[in-house]
Amino acid sequence: MNKKLKATCLTLSIIMAQQLVCIPTKIVYAAEKYTSDASVENKVNYNTDVIYQIVTDRFFDGNVSNNPKGNIYDGTKKSPKKYFGGDWNGIANKITDGYLRDLGITAIWISQPVENIYSVFADGSTSYHGYWARDFKKPNPAFGTIEEFKKLVKVAHDNNIKVIIDFAPNHTSPANPDEPSYAENGKLYDNGNLLAGYSNDKNGMFNHNGGTDFSTVEDGTYRNLFDLADLNTQNNTVDKYLKDSIKLWLDTGIDGIRMDAVKHMPEGWQKNFMDSVYDYKQVFTFGEWFLSKREQDPKNVKFANDSGMSLLDFRYAQKIREVLRDGTDNMQGLNEVIASTANQYEHVNDQVTFIDNHDMDRFYNEGTAKANVDQALVLTLTSRGVPAIYYGTEQYMSGNGDPNNRAMMSGFDKNTNAYKIIQKLSPLRKNNPAIAYGDTQQKWINDDVYIYERKFGNNVALVAVNRNKSKSVDISGALTTLPEGIYKDTLGNVVSGNDINVNSKGELQKFTLKAGSAAVWSYVSNNNSPIIGNIGSPMVEPGKTVTVDGRGFGDIKGKVSFGTTEGQVVSWDDKEIKVIVPNIDAGKINVIVQTASGVKSNIYKNFDVLTGKQVSVRFVVKNANTSLGQNVYLSGDVAELGNWNANNMIGEIYNKVEYQYPNWYFDVSVPAGKTINFKFIKKNGNNLVWESGNNHTYKVPENNTGEIIVDWQN
Ligand code: NOJ
Ligand code: NOJ
Ligand code: CA
Ligand code: CA
Repeated sequence: MNKKLKATCLTLSIIMAQQLVCIPTKIVYAAEKYTSDASVENKVNYNTDVIYQIVTDRFFDGNVSNNPKGNIYDGTKKSPKKYFGGDWNGIANKITDGYLRDLGITAIWISQPVENIYSVFADGSTSYHGYWARDFKKPNPAFGTIEEFKKLVKVAHDNNIKVIIDFAPNHTSPANPDEPSYAENGKLYDNGNLLAGYSNDKNGMFNHNGGTDFSTVEDGTYRNLFDLADLNTQNNTVDKYLKDSIKLWLDTGIDGIRMDAVKHMPEGWQKNFMDSVYDYKQVFTFGEWFLSKREQDPKNVKFANDSGMSLLDFRYAQKIREVLRDGTDNMQGLNEVIASTANQYEHVNDQVTFIDNHDMDRFYNEGTAKANVDQALVLTLTSRGVPAIYYGTEQYMSGNGDPNNRAMMSGFDKNTNAYKIIQKLSPLRKNNPAIAYGDTQQKWINDDVYIYERKFGNNVALVAVNRNKSKSVDISGALTTLPEGIYKDTLGNVVSGNDINVNSKGELQKFTLKAGSAAVWSYVSNNNSPIIGNIGSPMVEPGKTVTVDGRGFGDIKGKVSFGTTEGQVVSWDDKEIKVIVPNIDAGKINVIVQTASGVKSNIYKNFDVLTGKQVSVRFVVKNANTSLGQNVYLSGDVAELGNWNANNMIGEIYNKVEYQYPNWYFDVSVPAGKTINFKFIKKNGNNLVWESGNNHTYKVPENNTGEIIVDWQN
């Protein structure tokens, strides 16, 4: 056996002499790199990663000389709305001193790094959180210099850790239209040069529609989120400025983007923004579309499936909080969310799971069992989706509401149970592809106990949790696809887990799941038929190289087909293929890998191919009078407009803020430079009334944004 492979082997020499249960665990040293899907160099696939979310100002002060001067800073850390001094050097220090490296996390998500306003409000609020941008092209000096930022990226990469930045292009900073002297008037700078303020905004760089009442997505998109000066993404200067800004940050070597407030920006503009990001550098991107407890929103699902980026999985988070924090639901509820989201999200493994964040009460509630945190971590780290752990969860930090949920990191103890759980389960995401890519199947359930299996090819992980802290439960009759054998708890009994015994029929020998326990049993197979787990980036133009990750592709080059057309293979190994997307019709495509010997993989569905480079265009139809219940939709002759297909029309489109009924509008991402045909449709249920007459035609600009206004053709 390879020296670098440590094997956990259980030999049952007496009873079953020939049986050997062997779970190889690859130990990776800081200097050594994982390969293929587990590599820090793979920026498009995060299925094997564990993200650690850091509020930069609140983690560790690694350079006191950059702490802000004056009233904006509180060195005593008693005013939680002021800067506390945390910075990029501090994060780098906590990687090199082993705290983050040994925790096992493989990505950090840090606060928006751009320059923020310097004002202090009457109530003491400052921009310590990074969400009040002033200049997206400059670093926030309180977090460090651009050299220090690049140093953090290098230190992270040297330790197999990816870097994700928060990015908040929806708005600049708080502004009051009637009071230009309020804060910094939302002023936006371009590398030091003033572009516009919210008052006297002559070139229309901001939306001026008042604050949103959150009643509809349209209202929340084109009106201000609270008092934040809302950027007009259809403005050419703003559109180019935001795309140029993210490129500067991509140039520093970052590996991912967390997009703030995606529910509050036009979906069409965001899709064209993602195209420009992926055209420049492909990095995993996930957005924040907040859902409250038990909220379901088809628009959230559509965004995750069609915008080119993933979302934070709020349904998962809200449910796990109900089950293990608030006690308002049980394991059956969690199982239901896992089953229903698997159907809704086309790529459920790419959504980002979590148990709390800087906008929610911290998961750990003072006076309650810490075991709840431990169990929630076990579930999240082994569930479908990319787990994100909020800094301090591993120290059982508590704090309800903002800013109490963003306190300074309480300490760096490497011996807490939560720390150990993350440390044990993070490598499992790299080693066992069942955790990274597998489906989820419930194997045994009641209100307190949830046993589920993740399976990918011949790889299997079985997870059991008993949330009841006083009653153990006898488990009998559970089935698994784990091969026959005895399995040790991967958690090493940190959460009182037990070993299990599986017979040749896949039956689990009766066992007792202790009160408050959790266990993970894992089987990794080296013998796989070809199976695709992930393709990234998820939405690209033809001609782009994408990364196909999975198992069993073989070492000899085979074929990858996109629909019926083969792509040109750039590189090929057993777990990872790089392939150029062929010049095919745009739309959602099935991808299949075929090995050199002709064995076909599973069908990887809904890979999104664009017509070409994208531009955001506002389509406006005037005088489209509708009867009660009727709404207006848009369709046209490119995939981005639904290819005239009634099931893929754009809409219902809007009629309240930028234009008002009977005028309707929508911002859509469409192919640059192309002459497109389109029509509007009045729709009530299944009843469609298309515009009569000829199609409208429009030549989409090569760059910038566009607007086309037509009259409804009766
Ligand atoms: C959502 C962020 O997570 C929150 O903290 C922030 O205040 C708003 N978006 C506005 O940027
Ligand atoms: C405008 C509404 O938005 C639309 O839904 C309705 O059909 C028309 N008014 C006519 O009532
Ligand atoms: Ca500092
Ligand atoms: Ca907005």
